[in-house]
Amino acid sequence: MKQYNKFSKDLLNKLELILDKNFIFTNNEVLNEYSRDETENLSYPPEVLLKPGTSVEVSKIMKFAFDHNVPVTPIGARTGLSGGALSIHGGIGLSMERFNKIIKIDEDNLQLVVEPGVITQVLQEEVAKKGLYYAPDPASRGTCFIGGNIAENSGGPRAVKYGVTKDFVLNLEVVLPNGEIIQTGANTLKNSTGYNLTQLMVGSEGTLGIITKATLKLIPLPKLNKLILVPFKSALDACAAVSSIFKAGIVPSAMEFMERFAVEWTMKYIDDAHLAMKDDVEALLLIEVDGNNEELLFEEIQKIVEVVETHNCDDDILFAEDEAQKDQLWFIRRRIGEAVKANSIYKEEDTVVPRYRLPDLLKGVKEIGDNYGFKSVCYGHAGDGNLHVNIIKGDLSQEQWDNELPKAIREIFELTVSLGGTISGEHGIGLVQKPYMDIPFKSIELDIMRGVKKVFDPKNILNPYKIF
Ligand code: LAC
Ligand code: ZN
Repeated sequence: MKQYNKFSKDLLNKLELILDKNFIFTNNEVLNEYSRDETENLSYPPEVLLKPGTSVEVSKIMKFAFDHNVPVTPIGARTGLSGGALSIHGGIGLSMERFNKIIKIDEDNLQLVVEPGVITQVLQEEVAKKGLYYAPDPASRGTCFIGGNIAENSGGPRAVKYGVTKDFVLNLEVVLPNGEIIQTGANTLKNSTGYNLTQLMVGSEGTLGIITKATLKLIPLPKLNKLILVPFKSALDACAAVSSIFKAGIVPSAMEFMERFAVEWTMKYIDDAHLAMKDDVEALLLIEVDGNNEELLFEEIQKIVEVVETHNCDDDILFAEDEAQKDQLWFIRRRIGEAVKANSIYKEEDTVVPRYRLPDLLKGVKEIGDNYGFKSVCYGHAGDGNLHVNIIKGDLSQEQWDNELPKAIREIFELTVSLGGTISGEHGIGLVQKPYMDIPFKSIELDIMRGVKKVFDPKNILNPYKIF
């Protein structure tokens, strides 16, 4: 492991020559605050936290770090779930929160130019005022930054119809680890000019460069939607219904799976979350269709109901009547992660398989749980085959948790890969999934990735030792 320089008074003095003192923080309270994201209970404080406001400042900071051999960890809104924003080697924590401007909503080209520290929901609401839509909507959209979404290639419920973050990123301004500022592409919908640096940056988890500006694609905002909640006595039946809906020719704008316990815990830990469920319901599908034609949406919902009936759904399908009811259902769905966290120490796995294999994945996860004696709460983006498996510590001893759990996780990931899937659909690898990268990738494949990292970051100072 590489040795980095520790922060001395001398280095701090030099930093003050390139960034206003008011944006340099070394007090423990701030460092502790920025030592965490939403990943489990992990905490790694940086030695100094910086809040630059321009790409030129970021460039100077990176040049400084490059020259002085100091590690830098880009930090967004700290909503990540794989530890990508944790300063595991101390050094500089580089908060992008002052990059919070929407630079341009380009209605002529249906494009948006934005800084990375804009909250995703804020961006969505701003473009919606002009009848436009930025579709990717991670559960944390009310607090996460668009820059973090790009760094992680985030998804969310609407990805099933509209695609994930990568499908909306056209061009990026990036500061490289040596301080140079580059453009990765062009503000065009098509681009077959050279290697696709834009898409290489998307999902690179802050290891290749620091995103300081992004040009995103927008689409017209669908005017109407319908939402139903379908209960099932068997979670496996719910999973099996998913691919049948697509086979019937319908692409819902959301298709979310929730185990009963996920919903129950949300009601227990989150104020204002209410939903009546029969005792024998094991899982639910939350299904939305959207578009501009009421009649067509109605037909699609009818067709979906026909399909779920062939998969033994309960008769008590809930048709959301108004916006308030829709909001309540989405409120419950979006807060599950938080509720699971409040309930117990847990570990979250972000498995993804081709959607037809979803029942096999769920069944296998439960079998592995039985073998190792742990409970899991599963929910996620069923239409994408993306199941969030939350392993609950519950009554497991610390010894079991520390020594047995990694073996169980390995089995879950091996199962996922054997089903044609992979080990993260939208949360990234970061720190916590790094030990498992040998499961989806051969060593030659990992060597190619290491080679890419070296081209961008020869001194290994930018978010080092993440991903692999
Ligand atoms: C969700 C987050 C955890 O889907 O990805 O709620
Ligand atoms: Zn998710």
